[in-house]
Amino acid sequence: MRQLSELALLGGKPVRSAIFPGSVTTGEEEIRSVTEVLRTGLLSGFVGSPSPEFFGGPMVQKFERSWSETFEIGYSVSCNSATSALFMALGAVGICPGDEVIVSPYTMSATATSILFYGGIPVFADIEPDYFCLDPISIEEKITPFTKAILTTDIHGQSSDMNAINRIARQHDLKVIIDCAQAPGAKYNGRLAGTLGDIGIFSLNRHKNIQCGEGGVAVTSDHELALRMQLIRNHGENLVDIPGYAPQSLINMVGLNFRMTEIEAAIAIEQLKKMERLNQYRVDLVAYLNERLSKNICLTLPSVRPGSTHVYYMHVMLFDEGSVGIQRTKFVQALNAEGIPLRGGYVRPLYLEPIFQKKIALGDKGFPFVGEHYKGNVDYSKGICPVAEEAWEKRSVVNPFIYPPLTKNDMDDIVKGLEKVIKNLKDL
Ligand SMILES: Cc1ncc(COP(=O)(O)O)c(C=O)c1O
Repeated sequence: MRQLSELALLGGKPVRSAIFPGSVTTGEEEIRSVTEVLRTGLLSGFVGSPSPEFFGGPMVQKFERSWSETFEIGYSVSCNSATSALFMALGAVGICPGDEVIVSPYTMSATATSILFYGGIPVFADIEPDYFCLDPISIEEKITPFTKAILTTDIHGQSSDMNAINRIARQHDLKVIIDCAQAPGAKYNGRLAGTLGDIGIFSLNRHKNIQCGEGGVAVTSDHELALRMQLIRNHGENLVDIPGYAPQSLINMVGLNFRMTEIEAAIAIEQLKKMERLNQYRVDLVAYLNERLSKNICLTLPSVRPGSTHVYYMHVMLFDEGSVGIQRTKFVQALNAEGIPLRGGYVRPLYLEPIFQKKIALGDKGFPFVGEHYKGNVDYSKGICPVAEEAWEKRSVVNPFIYPPLTKNDMDDIVKGLEKVIKNLKDL
């Protein structure tokens, strides 16, 4: 019987049968560093009482010093995840029940849910259509008398528009927190992303450009904010009346255990040394991929903000259903059948998730969305952030496969898959 189409979706032979391997960023240096820690027997150096060890063991403190040097910032507070770092940051700036925090809907869920734990209300502003970061114009539209902070995400590997965001924050007396989990080492007008707000946070989870399995860092140039985060990280409630540990205000000074272990710090120290090299690896793969894809008329390649650099946590292309002539869903399905598992869209805009739609988050009484503490009227209806919705529903095609040990051969497969689907569009 004659084959109906070359496309794997319609019975043809796929371009690729091998799965894309996961990211590997570690090597001999990390093995040596971890072994050194194991030989000491000190796997965590933290204590929860007044002492230099309140601030962590030797590796943790060394890691924090190195991070501060690399990022040219006064204070780095390590912890066990970026989620914890977000929690520390929001607590430190004093988010209280009923305070609104303007946040992106197009980010990992923890960026927004971390706000809820202090009783804060995530207010979603829309994103820029080309860079996917918070759109300063939309931020301004969402400011109310209850707004306390802007929490922006440097999504996919490049910085938000920090000049515009800081200008708005100054005008309205708002705190600025940057979720830089996906963009360590990216630059904005020559300055390192994550360092241009009151607090910036980073992730060291296994998917990130540099990693230690699980881990996070919060940076600030403000001594008081650093102390408050160190207290939240390590059961600080026990120390808040001790000179040298006492914060100016007790608000949110109920601590948890977000401590980084010595082994994680030992790995993170080596990863930080490799940050530029690991970022360059991604930049080089993307340059090769973009060069090969530039002949491909139906996808728009990622845009880099003028004056900024991109560290490509993800390589996100734009799809125009009108000019291609088929739905993105179908296109991605055909590509996946070729063994190229790119994704249609990054995340469903967060306000469309059930906890926001149903306003059930903490407890069963609608807290923090409903209650005496909240005088505002947050809106989570479909349609509030049309650019984010369009990116999710039909505009973006997400390629995460640009990390070591992937090679140009893997990029060639991605190109072949895309070209094959485009050549056979009429069959779909
Ligand atoms: C933008 C963003 N924020 C926060 C996080 C949470 O990071 P972690 O897994 O270190 O808690 C992630 C993780 O994917 C992320 O991408």
